[in-house]
Amino acid sequence: MNLAVFASGRGSNFSAIVKAIQQGKLKIKLQLLICDQPQAPVIRRAQRAGVRVVLVRREDFASRIDFEAAIIGKLKESKINLIALAGFMRLLSPEFVSAYRRRIMNIHPSLLPAYKGAHAINDAYKARAAFTGVTVHFVDEQVDHGPLILQRKIKISPKDSLASLEKKIHTLEHKLYPYAIQLYVSGRLESQGRVKAA
Ligand code: GRF
Repeated sequence: MNLAVFASGRGSNFSAIVKAIQQGKLKIKLQLLICDQPQAPVIRRAQRAGVRVVLVRREDFASRIDFEAAIIGKLKESKINLIALAGFMRLLSPEFVSAYRRRIMNIHPSLLPAYKGAHAINDAYKARAAFTGVTVHFVDEQVDHGPLILQRKIKISPKDSLASLEKKIHTLEHKLYPYAIQLYVSGRLESQGRVKAA
């Protein structure tokens, strides 16, 4: 089975996936990094890991359809079965989502549907929520939405700073995402995201 990771930024989840593959915990071939930001640190991580990088800048294409067609061309070339969004800061069109239905996962740093959007950790922290967490879900046409695969809760302690909360969340993400992908690989996810017994 072949995986493509889509990312726009730092790439710590990308590296967690690479590590899980190297450790034999995740049995999938990471064929491609699709990145839309030429300066993103994730590119260097991919190069170091020997993963092919495809840089696709939206501004190089006349329309979103052309931009996504270029991506789909690369996915087909590498026979990609599964896409993992890991901090990819672009919305995929309904056509793209429907072409890869139940084959696109996303990780989000909150207990969806709470705190959607790009500032989820900060939003939960500012709201002085008692809990937040991490969600892995299949992607549908709406933002930070679609069948839930896994969710894990994290307690926000009164002693937490934003930085300490971020650290806890990322540490959890790095375990949860490879695990969710392996559930998919081993055929343990129903199309509604439910996990079948082993
Ligand atoms: C993660 O917090 C993920 O949940 C969100 O974007 C962030 C990406 O971080 N979708 P990184 O680039 O993997 O370090």
